[in-house]
Amino acid sequence: MAPDVHDRGRAELDALWARGRDFLGSRYALLGGAMSWVSERNLVAAISNAGGFGVIACGAMDPDRLAAEIAGTQALTQRPFGVNLITMHPQLDDLVRVCLEAKVGHIVLAGGIPSSATIRAIRDGGARVVAFAPALVLAKRLIKSGAEALVIEGSEAGGHVGPVSLTVLAQEILPHIHDVPVFVAGGLARGDAIVSYLEQGAAGAQLGTRFAASVESIAHERFKAAFVRGNARDAVTSVQLDERFPVIPVRGLANAGSRAFLAHQADVVRQFHDGTLSKDEAQLSIEHFWAGALRRAVIDGDVEHGSVMAGQSVGMVKSVQPIAEIIDDLVEQAIAAIVKWQQRTER
Ligand SMILES: Cc1cc2nc3c(=O)[nH]c(=O)nc-3n(C[C@H](O)[C@H](O)[C@H](O)COP(=O)(O)O)c2cc1C
Repeated sequence: MAPDVHDRGRAELDALWARGRDFLGSRYALLGGAMSWVSERNLVAAISNAGGFGVIACGAMDPDRLAAEIAGTQALTQRPFGVNLITMHPQLDDLVRVCLEAKVGHIVLAGGIPSSATIRAIRDGGARVVAFAPALVLAKRLIKSGAEALVIEGSEAGGHVGPVSLTVLAQEILPHIHDVPVFVAGGLARGDAIVSYLEQGAAGAQLGTRFAASVESIAHERFKAAFVRGNARDAVTSVQLDERFPVIPVRGLANAGSRAFLAHQADVVRQFHDGTLSKDEAQLSIEHFWAGALRRAVIDGDVEHGSVMAGQSVGMVKSVQPIAEIIDDLVEQAIAAIVKWQQRTER
């Protein structure tokens, strides 16, 4: 591509996601979606240093552990990064305080609709609030409560997912939300796909799966190898066997663990029928099945029995690449798509 053509494409991309870049303070409006056990200082700093916006996954960390992770990340990058907090964490207020004291600029609230009190506390403390909007009504409510940016995440994503694909969520939400930047997530692995959402009004994109299998990710080599091997169809959501015993849908690679989960549910339901287990005990037993399973897969490399959370975009992970190379690929694909469009409209 001729340099001037490329420059014009890049300028258009900069303009298309300017709102997202301004909000995040990063070179590109590309968020590294927080991934428990994976999104720690090394990956987060690598994403921010490469021009994206890394986000620490607090998960179940306690306040001291989070403070250490933030300090560790600050030692590795001068660029902005955020922290993802789960709203049902029992020490949420303390975690918010830790972020504010460490001057973290952006807090992403996940795992439920955050209270306006939490949103206000974060804003009063000088940080910006990002929240997940699973539907248009909730997007509007979150903005009223003070959320300054939204993420809409389709069911293609890895980890805990809602029932609606990004294709549909984007059409439902993007044309109607103008007050705050909206970032799209779920199933994204190429820059041209990201451009198509920017054209629809998104301010930027959030990716998880592609970054999890990067060189800088501390995930076990076997975890990364499973991503390289995996096809889109292998990244399935957890199956619920009995409507009386709800299972939170989590998308990950099918393995012996996911098959054992089905057998476990069948066993628990049988024990409930026998009267061996009460309804509450049966539900608890189902919920406890996966306790510690993500850590087993990510850190210990047990990809057969652990929880190998991955999105459908896993099929587009072809090798373990450095973060800078992944981000560069995404940006160049985005520019190429824009240039194609510019050349078509000028014909
Ligand atoms: C291994 C893994 C762990 C994840 N853990 C979390 C988490 O702790 N909190 C969260 O908000 N999202 C979590 N996610 C979702 C990501 O932040 C991101 O939104 C998602 O991966 C985007 O879709 P993609 O996987 O298709 O790129 C996780 C995803 C993966 C693959």
